[in-house]
Amino acid sequence: MHEFTPPSGTLLGVGLGPGDPALITLKAADAVARTRVLAVPVKARGAESFARRIVAGRITPAHTVLELVFPMRSDPEVLRPHWQRAAQAILTHLDRGEDVAFLCEGDPFTFGTFIYVFREVARLRPHAPVEVIPGVSAYHAAACRTLTPLAAGDDRLCVLPATYGVEVVETMLERFDTVVLLKVKPVMDALLDMLARTGLTGHAVFVNKVGTDEEAVVTDVASLRGRKLDYLSLMLVRNPARVKEPVLRGCRPKVGA
Ligand SMILES: C[S@@+](CC[C@H](N)C(=O)[O-])C[C@H]1O[C@@H](n2cnc3c(N)ncnc32)[C@H](O)[C@@H]1O
Repeated sequence: MHEFTPPSGTLLGVGLGPGDPALITLKAADAVARTRVLAVPVKARGAESFARRIVAGRITPAHTVLELVFPMRSDPEVLRPHWQRAAQAILTHLDRGEDVAFLCEGDPFTFGTFIYVFREVARLRPHAPVEVIPGVSAYHAAACRTLTPLAAGDDRLCVLPATYGVEVVETMLERFDTVVLLKVKPVMDALLDMLARTGLTGHAVFVNKVGTDEEAVVTDVASLRGRKLDYLSLMLVRNPARVKEPVLRGCRPKVGA
């Protein structure tokens, strides 16, 4: 005899873009409209959720908002219990057959908290359906806003949190034409030292809260030294002097072959 397993609700990871409501995709807007349970990440109970703010005009009394707390910490051991609690809270609904839309700033699979919660839900309920709706990443919006092409032709593009360490960033700048630096806030002064030393200060642009009312673009990045910055800020750095090795083209099919 097989035990009856009731059908699970679907977990949706919904990318909402960087903050400008006009950058919410039609698919994301539809997911928010049709999903009753909206999971919103907050850094502390009762704190404002940036993702929630992006869709503020689309949340109705018919929605149930599930606040999930993820403290602003980087240690996975501190965060793991929060990912697990969040997954449990989501499972309460999925197990009743209710869909849950986890609201994400930017894109869900680009350095997003959703990744950890999704993995935990998939571990606990391998058969629960999951749908991930891509969103416009903050760095895509920042590149367009500042007219900074990210990569063309045989350029290389690297995206990483600056908190990996300034030495890592410096190495990436030797190997990539464009380096996108997320989470610049805690290491800005050290980054500025490195940019000055490598002659790249003039090739960097800083963007605060792209797509929001508080958006700011700073091209004179040296002026950021000692300034209090926002977590939602990033830097794009181009290295025009990157030494390019010959590109291997052997895997391209030959014409007429
Ligand atoms: C945890 S990552 C999330 C990235 C997000 N999933 C995305 O696709 O854009 C957080 C970092 O993304 C960057 N970020 C997110 N939203 C931003 C915005 N509106 N303006 C500037 N940077 C932003 C900041 O560097 C921030 O520290």
